[in-house]
Amino acid sequence: MIDPRLEGREVERVAFTEKEIAERVRQLGDEVTTAYPDGDLLVLGLLKGSFIFVSDLVRQIGRSLQIDFLVVSSYGTEKVSSGNVRLVYDPQAELKGSHILLVEDIVDSGRTLSRVIEVLGERQPASIEVCALLHKNHATHLKHPPRFIGFDAPDDFLVGYGLDHAENFRHLPYIASLK
Ligand code: IMP
Ligand code: MG
Repeated sequence: MIDPRLEGREVERVAFTEKEIAERVRQLGDEVTTAYPDGDLLVLGLLKGSFIFVSDLVRQIGRSLQIDFLVVSSYGTEKVSSGNVRLVYDPQAELKGSHILLVEDIVDSGRTLSRVIEVLGERQPASIEVCALLHKNHATHLKHPPRFIGFDAPDDFLVGYGLDHAENFRHLPYIASLK
């Protein structure tokens, strides 16, 4: 497939089409709505990867909520996460007593998430749950497995719908592996 957005690279395989993503996000929105009948809900997106997913997901959630983002810096290389994370942007919203729904693009080793949950847990939220669009299912040992998962992801390096390769391709409306 030739896509002018790919700077000459070619799609190896489309893992999830725009339509498939939209349908699944609608279902996830319903799941989240049902799971939080009351209380303050704070949707916290992990930047940058979750920015498109968050914006689509919140429009499918049929209850009141607030939105904020987290910026995390991990030391080490892009493709391998070390698990040593640091909050670069701290949410301005009140975390104490809120139900936090942490939204992540993809869970690979799960190390990023585990550390973020530890840090947020210190702020005394009412609960913390994770909604991940994609799960590679490498992380089977997680203390806090994602409660909401969009898709089981193939074991390829994926781009699009927020996911990047060296900051490129985040704007693709589908999710694909490249040649
Ligand atoms: P983890 O800490 O190993 O779970 O890594 C999760 C983070 O690694 C995600 O938030 C992504 O930024 C990045 N990542 C993992 N797999 C992929 C992929 O297939 N494509 C793009 N980014 C990925
Ligand atoms: Mg990311």
